Amino acid sequence: METEKTQTAAEQMTDRDLSEQIKKVTKESHVRAENTELMLSFQRGKVTLPQYKLLLCSLYEIYQALEEELDRNSNHPGVAPIYFPAELARLESIEKDLEYFYGPDWREKIVVPAATKRYCHRLRQIGKENPEFLLAHAYTRYLGDLSGGQVLGRIAQKSMGLKNSEGLSFFAFPGVSSPNLFKQLYRSRMNSVELTEEERNGVLEEAVRAFEFNIQVFDDLQKLLSVTENNLQSCLTHSKPVNAKGFQ
Ligand code: HEM
Repeated sequence: METEKTQTAAEQMTDRDLSEQIKKVTKESHVRAENTELMLSFQRGKVTLPQYKLLLCSLYEIYQALEEELDRNSNHPGVAPIYFPAELARLESIEKDLEYFYGPDWREKIVVPAATKRYCHRLRQIGKENPEFLLAHAYTRYLGDLSGGQVLGRIAQKSMGLKNSEGLSFFAFPGVSSPNLFKQLYRSRMNSVELTEEERNGVLEEAVRAFEFNIQVFDDLQKLLSVTENNLQSCLTHSKPVNAKGFQ
């Protein structure tokens, strides 16, 4: 029954629809994002605690910027139709996960790599200058979380040997009973946003950029981990004190 409804909605979409265009222009970027070292670790069931903890730190900064800008612009005509804080907001769940892994003083321990800062800077800039571009970032993160993210949560739990869903609130969407139906609703809301040709092209470009920011965040994080591992290795070899506070 649900499938029939979904198919009907999907069939009604046309090539002119923003939801179809955005999927098409970001297709190649999606493949690149899936193939970053970090995402491959997830898919292979090999994600480690340091990788996941560091990822949570970046996600905290990213969703703080994204959700603050969405909240501030919630009445903007380019944002209002895709504004679903009750269903989608991630910040509080990330805070819970950070507290689980880092303890009550997690705020003093989190590490924010440079690429994450650049991504957040862009989010705040468009929140001020081009709020209609926020749609591109909300699409990239939230629809991704509702798609591959669901499987990744289960894999992460197994990889890190976590009991039930402790530390994995980020992946759970208690306000969304059917991710597929919700994605259909989200796409139809995206398609209802009125944009000039120029604005539409701007949104499409911004979506490609959003994927690029995510890829850079993942690569940066991986680089930081390999430097830390090498430092740890050399510290252990040379018996010097280890300073890897924050992401062990
Ligand atoms: C959609 C898998 C990483 C953003 C999807 C879908 C799958 C998937 C299977 C299609 C779901 C459907 O058609 O209903 C994965 C896997 C990943 C990954 C296995 C890595 C392990 C990412 C990343 C991002 C992302 C890193 C962005 C930061 C998206 C978006 C969609 C999507 C925006 C919705 C596409 C649309 O329907 O317009 N993903 N994904 N994904 N993914 Fe990913």
